[in-house]
Amino acid sequence: MNILVIHGPNLNLLGMREPEIYGHTTLEDINALLQKRATEAGASIDFLQSNHEGVLVDAIQKATDRYDYIILNAGAFTHYSIAIRDAIAAIKPPVIEVHLSNIYQREEFRHNSVIAPVALGQISGLGAGSYLAALEAILWKADLR
Ligand code: DQA
Repeated sequence: MNILVIHGPNLNLLGMREPEIYGHTTLEDINALLQKRATEAGASIDFLQSNHEGVLVDAIQKATDRYDYIILNAGAFTHYSIAIRDAIAAIKPPVIEVHLSNIYQREEFRHNSVIAPVALGQISGLGAGSYLAALEAILWKADLR
Protein backbone atom coordinates (compact mmCIF):
# COMPACT_ATOMS: atom_id res chain seq x y z
CA MET A 1 0.00 0.00 0.00
CA ASN A 2 1.65 3.21 -1.19
CA ILE A 3 0.03 6.52 -0.33
CA LEU A 4 1.00 9.99 -1.52
CA VAL A 5 -0.02 13.07 0.48
CA ILE A 6 -0.01 16.31 -1.51
CA HIS A 7 -0.26 19.70 0.15
CA GLY A 8 -0.95 22.70 -2.08
CA PRO A 9 -0.21 26.42 -1.83
CA ASN A 10 0.37 28.19 1.48
CA LEU A 11 0.10 24.99 3.49
CA ASN A 12 3.85 25.28 4.18
CA LEU A 13 2.85 28.22 6.41
CA LEU A 14 0.60 26.17 8.69
CA GLY A 15 1.15 26.97 12.34
CA MET A 16 1.64 30.69 11.69
CA ARG A 17 -0.94 31.19 8.92
CA GLU A 18 -4.33 32.50 10.18
CA PRO A 19 -4.18 30.28 13.31
CA GLU A 20 -7.78 31.20 14.19
CA ILE A 21 -8.81 29.28 11.05
CA TYR A 22 -6.09 26.70 10.59
CA GLY A 23 -4.85 26.17 14.16
CA HIS A 24 -1.30 25.92 15.44
CA THR A 25 -0.44 22.52 14.02
CA THR A 26 2.40 22.73 11.48
CA LEU A 27 2.69 20.78 8.25
CA GLU A 28 5.57 18.83 9.81
CA ASP A 29 3.25 17.87 12.71
CA ILE A 30 0.57 16.64 10.29
CA ASN A 31 3.09 14.67 8.23
CA ALA A 32 4.55 13.11 11.39
CA LEU A 33 1.08 12.02 12.56
CA LEU A 34 0.31 10.46 9.19
CA GLN A 35 3.73 8.82 8.98
CA LYS A 36 3.29 7.26 12.43
CA ARG A 37 -0.15 5.84 11.64
CA ALA A 38 0.87 4.57 8.20
CA THR A 39 3.99 2.84 9.56
CA GLU A 40 1.93 1.24 12.34
CA ALA A 41 -0.47 -0.13 9.70
CA GLY A 42 2.36 -1.31 7.41
CA ALA A 43 1.63 1.22 4.67
CA SER A 44 4.21 3.37 2.92
CA ILE A 45 3.52 7.10 2.73
CA ASP A 46 5.24 9.99 0.92
CA PHE A 47 4.70 13.72 1.22
CA LEU A 48 4.92 16.67 -1.15
CA GLN A 49 4.13 20.35 -0.71
CA SER A 50 4.20 22.92 -3.48
CA ASN A 51 2.90 26.40 -4.09
CA HIS A 52 2.96 25.83 -7.86
CA GLU A 53 0.06 24.46 -9.88
CA GLY A 54 2.28 22.81 -12.52
CA VAL A 55 4.34 21.01 -9.86
CA LEU A 56 1.11 19.62 -8.40
CA VAL A 57 -0.12 18.53 -11.85
CA ASP A 58 3.24 16.81 -12.52
CA ALA A 59 3.11 15.04 -9.15
CA ILE A 60 -0.46 13.82 -9.75
CA GLN A 61 0.45 12.55 -13.24
CA LYS A 62 3.57 10.74 -11.99
CA ALA A 63 1.63 9.14 -9.14
CA THR A 64 -0.40 6.98 -11.49
CA ASP A 65 1.85 3.90 -11.44
CA ARG A 66 3.51 4.44 -8.07
CA TYR A 67 0.70 5.01 -5.60
CA ASP A 68 -2.52 3.29 -4.62
CA TYR A 69 -4.17 6.39 -3.14
CA ILE A 70 -3.58 10.13 -2.98
CA ILE A 71 -4.64 12.40 -0.13
CA LEU A 72 -4.83 15.92 -1.56
CA ASN A 73 -5.29 19.32 0.02
CA ALA A 74 -5.10 21.53 -3.05
CA GLY A 75 -5.55 24.72 -0.99
CA ALA A 76 -6.97 27.59 -3.04
CA PHE A 77 -6.50 25.59 -6.27
CA THR A 78 -9.43 23.48 -5.05
CA HIS A 79 -11.77 26.24 -6.10
CA TYR A 80 -10.57 26.93 -9.65
CA SER A 81 -7.83 24.65 -10.98
CA ILE A 82 -9.30 22.75 -13.90
CA ALA A 83 -5.73 21.56 -14.62
CA ILE A 84 -5.57 19.76 -11.27
CA ARG A 85 -9.07 18.39 -11.73
CA ASP A 86 -8.14 17.05 -15.18
CA ALA A 87 -4.94 15.46 -13.83
CA ILE A 88 -6.98 13.66 -11.14
CA ALA A 89 -9.48 12.47 -13.75
CA ALA A 90 -6.60 11.15 -15.92
CA ILE A 91 -4.89 8.92 -13.35
CA LYS A 92 -5.64 5.55 -11.78
CA PRO A 93 -5.21 6.10 -8.02
CA PRO A 94 -8.29 7.45 -6.27
CA VAL A 95 -7.89 10.89 -4.68
CA ILE A 96 -9.35 11.85 -1.30
CA GLU A 97 -9.80 15.62 -1.08
CA VAL A 98 -9.14 17.09 2.35
CA HIS A 99 -9.44 20.52 3.95
CA LEU A 100 -8.46 21.63 7.42
CA SER A 101 -11.24 24.22 7.58
CA ASN A 102 -14.90 23.67 6.75
CA ILE A 103 -14.97 25.28 3.32
CA TYR A 104 -18.79 25.48 3.42
CA GLN A 105 -18.77 27.71 6.50
CA ARG A 106 -16.41 30.22 4.91
CA GLU A 107 -16.55 32.75 2.04
CA GLU A 108 -18.84 31.79 -0.81
CA PHE A 109 -15.94 31.43 -3.28
CA ARG A 110 -14.71 28.50 -1.17
CA HIS A 111 -18.02 26.64 -1.33
CA ASN A 112 -17.32 25.18 -4.75
CA SER A 113 -14.65 22.52 -5.28
CA VAL A 114 -13.83 21.75 -8.92
CA ILE A 115 -11.98 18.68 -7.62
CA ALA A 116 -14.85 17.10 -5.67
CA PRO A 117 -16.63 15.63 -8.74
CA VAL A 118 -13.51 13.62 -9.66
CA ALA A 119 -12.46 12.74 -6.09
CA LEU A 120 -13.33 9.52 -4.29
CA GLY A 121 -14.55 11.62 -1.38
CA GLN A 122 -14.06 14.85 0.51
CA ILE A 123 -13.31 15.53 4.17
CA SER A 124 -13.54 19.13 5.32
CA GLY A 125 -13.38 20.94 8.64
CA LEU A 126 -11.65 18.50 10.99
CA GLY A 127 -8.26 20.20 11.11
CA ALA A 128 -5.39 17.70 11.01
CA GLY A 129 -8.12 15.12 11.65
CA SER A 130 -9.26 15.57 8.03
CA TYR A 131 -5.97 14.05 6.85
CA LEU A 132 -6.09 11.33 9.52
CA ALA A 133 -9.68 10.44 8.60
CA ALA A 134 -8.65 10.14 4.95
CA LEU A 135 -5.78 7.83 5.92
CA GLU A 136 -8.07 5.72 8.13
CA ALA A 137 -10.54 5.39 5.26
CA ILE A 138 -7.75 4.12 2.99
CA LEU A 139 -6.51 1.65 5.64
CA TRP A 140 -10.08 0.50 6.16
CA LYS A 141 -10.59 -0.09 2.44
CA ALA A 142 -7.28 -1.95 2.19
CA ASP A 143 -8.06 -4.03 5.30
CA LEU A 144 -4.93 -2.72 7.05
CA ARG A 145 -6.57 -1.48 10.23
C1 DQA B 1 -7.97 24.87 2.60
C2 DQA B 1 -9.21 25.70 2.26
C3 DQA B 1 -8.96 26.55 1.03
O1 DQA B 1 -10.11 27.34 0.74
C4 DQA B 1 -7.79 27.49 1.27
O2 DQA B 1 -7.51 28.24 0.11
C5 DQA B 1 -6.58 26.79 1.76
C6 DQA B 1 -6.74 25.73 2.74
C7 DQA B 1 -8.14 24.10 3.92
O3 DQA B 1 -7.34 23.17 4.16
O4 DQA B 1 -9.01 24.42 4.73
O5 DQA B 1 -5.46 27.13 1.41
O6 DQA B 1 -7.77 23.91 1.58
